[in-house]
Formats: sequence, structure tokens, C-alpha cells
Amino acid sequence: MPPVSQTAASNRFSFEERLQIEYLLDNYLEKQNEGKDVIDGLTQSPKSLPPRYFYDSKGSQLFEQICALPEYYPTRTEAAILQQYAEKIAKITGSCELIELGSGSSTKTRLLLDAYSALNYPLRYFPIDVSGSILKESAYNLLKDYATLQVHGLVSTYERALSQLKPSSLPQRIIVFLGSTIGNFTPSECDRFISQVSTTLDRGDYFLLGIDLQKPKHILEAAYNDSQGITTAFNLNILQHLNWRFRGNFNLDSFSHGAIYNESAKQIEMYLVSQQTQVVCLETLDLLVQFTAGEKILTEISRKFDRQKLKDYLKTKGLKVIESWTDSNQWFALLLCRREINKNVF
Ligand code: AVJ
Repeated sequence: MPPVSQTAASNRFSFEERLQIEYLLDNYLEKQNEGKDVIDGLTQSPKSLPPRYFYDSKGSQLFEQICALPEYYPTRTEAAILQQYAEKIAKITGSCELIELGSGSSTKTRLLLDAYSALNYPLRYFPIDVSGSILKESAYNLLKDYATLQVHGLVSTYERALSQLKPSSLPQRIIVFLGSTIGNFTPSECDRFISQVSTTLDRGDYFLLGIDLQKPKHILEAAYNDSQGITTAFNLNILQHLNWRFRGNFNLDSFSHGAIYNESAKQIEMYLVSQQTQVVCLETLDLLVQFTAGEKILTEISRKFDRQKLKDYLKTKGLKVIESWTDSNQWFALLLCRREINKNVF
């Protein structure tokens, strides 16, 4: 077999012909509404912010660093499970379009692409991410390594991207949602999201979901309070992103990072804590926000799941879990679901 680079060079399709990137955030109505979620979050009590604002270019890079931290077990645990079962997944699903929500660096996705490629299936990949910079960089890296891969990236929120997908050009489609990002949703947000995934899929299509499982508090809290301070930087960067996006004046030195495991709600709660009384202005949102000393902004919840309960729940949403895999510690699980019914019942 020729080396990869030679295969890529001899391919008659250039990068440009195999790559399309679409920005779905740019329409007029959405511009009008931009930041409404930030205003809502910061004017409520307790204050909160939508986690998607973590992921500007810097935030996406910091998240990549988190994934490599010794304390942050989810990424490597999920990758190991995928490594072990990717071939099986590809055999079950057959040839399909691969749609990934929150694709980021697409590192774990490569395990799936390798498996589809080993079966000689055409590789059509639709990464969806709110960060355009990481999406573009990852797409180029993939095109270099997979000579026949076609990439159609969508810079978008999940909701908008799912509502705009064109009919599949391959027999089947698989929506992939890794990393337990589903844990960022509150139960009601999760419900809306899963309904949308389910109705976007046709009968017989697949949904591959990565979930972080319940485990002792000290393991979880270490994962969100790492000793190198990367999670602190990641959390604070959300304020930097808001400063840039909405002409704000958050002073990052006057907030500190906190993350605790709420054992009754079974979720990590990540905060920024105001170190003093202060007023922050976000100019383009026409917003002044007051903070008392010690006041918290909830920047993220990360729910930890019970595998059986989630299976039962997915079933009620028309998504039947046909296979589920975990690691030897049962810290993380991958669920492969198939869309069961054809009607829009949700
Ligand atoms: C990308 C949402 C899965 O909740 O573990 C990592 C984000 N936040 N460290 C998670 C995150 C702090 C991560 N998800």
C-alpha cells in the first residue's frame, strides 16, 4: 500500500472540491436576536451563561488541552471504547453519512472514519460546531489524511444545523454526539434536543451518543478542578469571549473558578465567582450587570447519567438503544441507537 501522503496527492479531487463550509449563524433575524440568551442568563437570579459561549477559538483550544489532562478521564475513556467498537458500529450501520454535533478537533471521529474506510464505504462527513476556526482547521487536517473524504462543515448551533440538513445522499445517516456534551443540557433542554434528533432521523437511521456515568465525587471534582489550572482558564475565557463579542468589560482577575459535584442532582456545576462588588457593562447588548462579592455565575452543568435510565428514556423518544458499550471501570458509555418509528410523534 502506498503511504497516505502519496494516496492523497494522486487523488484527482482537490481540497476545494472535497470541502464546503457553511455559516448558518449569519442571517438578519439571528443577528437581531444575538445575545438574547446572554441577557436572559445575566439578568436572572442566580445568574447563568449558556455553555456554548465557551467555544470561541481560544476556548476550543483550551478544551483540547482539557481533554489531554490526567484528571480529565472522559476523552480518553470514550476514545478507548470507540477504538474497540468502531468496526462493529460501521458493520451495523453500513454505508452512511456521518453528522457530528460539536465536532471540535474531530479526533475521536477519525476512529469511525477509519472503520468506514476499511469497509470501503464512501466517506461523507458533516461536522457541526459553533467555532468556525476549529471547524476549518480540523476539516483541513482530515482532508490531508483521508484521500476520498468529503467534508461539509456547518458553523452553527445544533438546533439550526439539524433543522437545515438536506436529505441524505447515502442509504443511511448517523448522528454522532460524543464527549457527554448532552450533559450540558438541563432535562427540559435535553428533551427538546433529543426530540429534534429523533425527528431529523428517518426510520432505520442511527444516533451514537457518548455519556459520562455516575461515579464517586472525588473523581468527578478532580476532573473539573485540574491541578494545572486549564479548566480555570477555560471557564474564565467565557468572559473574554463575551468582552469581544458584545464589547464588554469583564475583568477576568476579579472572578474565580469553582466546580462542585451536586450529588443529589447528579451533576457537576461550574461557576465563576465574583471576588468583589462590581458592575460590568456589555455595550452592544445595552446591558449593565451588578455583582455582589461572592455572587456566582453558573457557566455549565455537566450531568452524569445512569445508563439504564437513559436507555429507557431514549426508547420513549423513538430511539432504541441497540448496543451499548462501557469501559472496565464503567466510567463512560457509548450508546448506539436506531430510529424506530417513521412518524413525527414528538
Ligand atoms: C464538552 C461539555 C462534555 O462537561 O465535561 C470540561 C466541558 N467543562 N471541563 C464536560 C468541560 C469543563 C465538557 N463537555
